[in-house]
Amino acid sequence: MQSTEFDLDGEHREKAYSILAGVITPRPIAWVTTKNEDGSINAAPFSFFNCFGSRPPLVIFAPGNKEPGIPKDTARNIRREREFVIHTVDASVMEAMSQSAATLPYGQSEIDTDTLTLLDSSSISTPRIAEAPVALECTEHSTIEIGSNRLVLGIVHKVHVRTGLMDPTTCHIDQESYHPIGRMASPDWYCTTEKLFEISRP
Ligand SMILES: Cc1cc2nc3c(=O)[nH]c(=O)nc-3n(C[C@H](O)[C@H](O)[C@H](O)COP(=O)(O)O)c2cc1C
Repeated sequence: MQSTEFDLDGEHREKAYSILAGVITPRPIAWVTTKNEDGSINAAPFSFFNCFGSRPPLVIFAPGNKEPGIPKDTARNIRREREFVIHTVDASVMEAMSQSAATLPYGQSEIDTDTLTLLDSSSISTPRIAEAPVALECTEHSTIEIGSNRLVLGIVHKVHVRTGLMDPTTCHIDQESYHPIGRMASPDWYCTTEKLFEISRP
């Protein structure tokens, strides 16, 4: 099989985002609510995101800079409040998630309260979005900066799952009902997760 090499240390350094965001797919989407300084609620999606362990329950996502040296509002809010809620995204909130990626002046809410409902969280003061299939109440463990990348490490305290999606006894997700959207190549490609298959482990 032939392949083409892309050199992220040299010729393709400036294309690293496009190359990596194109090939490392699909990615889950963290739709994150945080509290602005005036108490209003900020929401934004981040697909540099995943779960990295369960003891403690650890999630990491990576909000970049708005412009050099200026963190995105989500990161700014988390440094101050040290808490946030991560939601997963399915078709029911896909459009609202996408709208919330708009770059608005700090403090201007990306949440359209005509279509979305904010509910109190139980362990933190940042509210969660009722319409999202899953909400993870998190506190900030730490934030690590590597070059212009910023990794927000969060500990998950409470998980809210839309009724019917997870068996409360076995804690198994119902794969036939839960269909999170995945992020594909930047800027605007997504995938759905309706078509599933199973392979037994050896
Ligand atoms: C599906 C999706 C995934 C995104 N993933 C990221 C990401 O991983 N990191 C990032 O910095 N921006 C990402 N963005 C862009 C941010 O959502 C956007 O910059 C947003 O305005 C940030 O909002 P904030 O300043 O309120 O934090 C993504 C946008 C979309 C639509």
